[in-house]
Formats: sequence, C-alpha cells, structure tokens
Amino acid sequence: MVYNYVVPMTTFDNYPYYNIDVAKASNEYIIDKNGKKYLDLRSGLWNVSLGYHAELLAKIQQKMNMLLADGLFYLDIHSYHHSIYQEFADNLLEFSNRDHPAFNKVFYTSSGSEGTELALKLSHFNNRKKYILAFQEGYHGTFFGGMAVSGVDYNISEAYNNVNEHVIFFPAPRNQSMLDELLAFIDQNKDTIAAFIFEPVIGSSGTIAVHDTYLNILMENCEVNHILKIFDEVATGFFRTGDRFYYHKLSSPPDILILSKSINNGILPFGAVLIGEKVCDLLLNKHIDHFSTQNGNLLSIHTANETLNYMRETEVELKRNVAEIEKCMQRVCDHYSIRYSGAGAMFSISINDVNLTNRIVNELKEFGILVYYYYDYSDNTVNSGITLFPPLFLAANKLEAALHIICKKIKRYM
Ligand SMILES: Cc1ncc(COP(=O)(O)O)c(C=O)c1O
Repeated sequence: MVYNYVVPMTTFDNYPYYNIDVAKASNEYIIDKNGKKYLDLRSGLWNVSLGYHAELLAKIQQKMNMLLADGLFYLDIHSYHHSIYQEFADNLLEFSNRDHPAFNKVFYTSSGSEGTELALKLSHFNNRKKYILAFQEGYHGTFFGGMAVSGVDYNISEAYNNVNEHVIFFPAPRNQSMLDELLAFIDQNKDTIAAFIFEPVIGSSGTIAVHDTYLNILMENCEVNHILKIFDEVATGFFRTGDRFYYHKLSSPPDILILSKSINNGILPFGAVLIGEKVCDLLLNKHIDHFSTQNGNLLSIHTANETLNYMRETEVELKRNVAEIEKCMQRVCDHYSIRYSGAGAMFSISINDVNLTNRIVNELKEFGILVYYYYDYSDNTVNSGITLFPPLFLAANKLEAALHIICKKIKRYM
C-alpha cells in the first residue's frame, strides 16, 4: 500500500517504523488488527506515562461529555476568559511549587517543540544577551528554535538553521574536568549568555543522567552570572524520574520550565511553559510575540487538569512503582552484566550499531515487546541503542519478564 500521508521524521515516502496496524490499546498494551498484543515499553512516544488506562479515560470521557453537551469546545484564549484557564494554572503551579515557590505564571502551548520556541523567545529579554548554551546530546523539538538548540542529529537539522539563534554546544559533563571546562567557558562569556537550556536527564540520544551535584553547580553558576536556566522537562516531567519533576531533586528550581507529553497522558496536543518571578520581571510591559490559535485549547486543558488530579490521587503509588521499576532494571541488567544508563523509569542500553539495533528492536516486536530505538550521528560516530520508557504503573513482574527477553536478545548478539 502507498500511503498518501507523510510519515514524519524519516526519509520522505518511508513507512512507519514498526509496521503494525494498530486497532486499540489497553493499559500497557497496544493491540493490532489481528488481536496481537504488544507490551508498550515506549509509553506511546514517552507521553502515555499512565498507560492506556481505563480509569483515567473514564474520568476524561465523563468530563468531555459534559463539555460537549454545553457546546463549548473552543475558545480564543487571547480574547476571552474561562474559569478552566485559571483553575488549571493554579493546579499546575501548586503542584510544581511543592518545595519552593518557584513559578507564578503559566503559558499554554500545544506541544513540547512550541514550548522550546517560546522559552527561547523569552530568554532574549534577558538584557538582549545573544548566546544560548545547550548540551550537544540534547533534543528540544523540531521547530526552528528547537532545532537550533538540539545538538543531537545536528548534521541533519543544520540544513534548516536559518534562524537567528546563536547557540554554543557543550557535551553533557560526565566528569569533573568536563564540568570545569564548561564552568570556565561560562565564566569567560557570562556577559553574552542569555540562557542555558537542557534536559535534566537527556532522552533522545540514549538516556544520559548528568550527576545531580554537577547540575546543582551549573545552576548556581548560572544564577550568579544572570544566565536564565531553562529546564526542558518535556520527557522527564510528571514522575518519569520518580519525583513530580526532576528539578525537585535539585537544590534550586529553574527560571523557565518546559512541559508537555505526560502533562495530559498524550490524550490531546498540549503543553505549558512555567516562569518564575525573575522572568516575569524581565517581561514586564513587554509584548511577547508568540501565539497559536490552538493555545489553551479548552478540551486539551480539561484533559490536563483531569490527568493532573489523577496523578495527585495516585502520587504515592506512582512514586513507589517508579522506584520498583528502577530496582527491577538494575537487578536484571546486573544479572546479565549489561550496562545501562538513565534514571527513574527512563533507561537506555547502547548497541552502537544501527543494523543490530534495528534487528533487536524488530525481533523484540515479534515477541510482542515494543522498545524505542535511538540513533545519533553527531560527532561522526554512530551512537545507537534501545531506550525504555515503561508505563509508570507497569507491574514489576511484567517488566522483569520483558527485561529477561530483552537482555537475552542483546547478549545473544553482543
Ligand atoms: C526533551 C524534549 N523536548 C522537546 C520535545 C519536543 O516535544 P514535541 O514532540 O511535543 O514537540 C521532545 C520530544 O520528544 C523532548 O523529548
């Protein structure tokens, strides 16, 4: 069959990677047209963190029915007020500000890529400083600003980079000397660096967890040098790494927080950007030229509000299960002497051979296990492997059984 829609993020005219004709989903499974079940260890595209969860869906369905019965499915947020705009902003701010009052305003967006775009625009108000720092292995979306600050696959995205974004990449520090190099650069160039954007645990080039001590030092350094700290928690947010947000584990919060994906369990396109007092002060009386007709889509906000309420109700269980997932990963990988990286419930195993990565991913699919694959061709070496984002409620015994299959397969070829 020739598809008459374009499959994104692959060569033009290519087919969807997994070659599965999906019919439905249930809890942690995707089910194809022939009734074959696949354990979704990708959680959608890292956004269906709560799984295809019937209880959450029932709540959302009930809410949707009420809204649609009222006839109000769309409202222009630029022109009108609706109580849900305020209600969800309060809910999200309260949820984020658990330890310190870090944030006081919320922008509504329609995706993570859009959140990056907005965060970069906001950082230009930081005394019109010109440069943005970013990690070479990072990914922040495929809009123009996002591509400019994404080091991963830079040799592909470079072709599109006609935006006026001045970016300096550094590798995510794995040791003290890498950190020292980065700190020295910041010190020498502090007057020209507007912001530092990064994922607290990098996701797209294999999961890379920078040590918390290094992150804390970097944050402190940015603070004293008036460099805005932009945390892209599009992938790490909402319990993926154990806590509500990754920054809750650190000694201070970021100035700008980008959220999307699990914010509403992937039910509708949605995202948010949170800012604290420092950024609010920079923006005072400024016109912010950023808007999409779908920002603050009423149905999307309702799904996010219901999802957040559900996460609050199940917070203890979510945290306990992520800790179980983390232990299970360690136990099984240790058993097979397989090295992995990551934190909470996001992990990668390096394979560093694209053909072999494809082979393993496809053979696992035949076993009914879906894993995410990554390839990163930056710095002329092939960095490839499999990434696991298990649904956060997945029972440890189910994960353990799947991990044995995954590890045996990797061991067989490597
Ligand atoms: C860390 C991070 N930032 C931004 C994005 C872009 O988000 P979206 O795909 O919703 O535009 C992604 C998507 O994978 C991501 O992982």
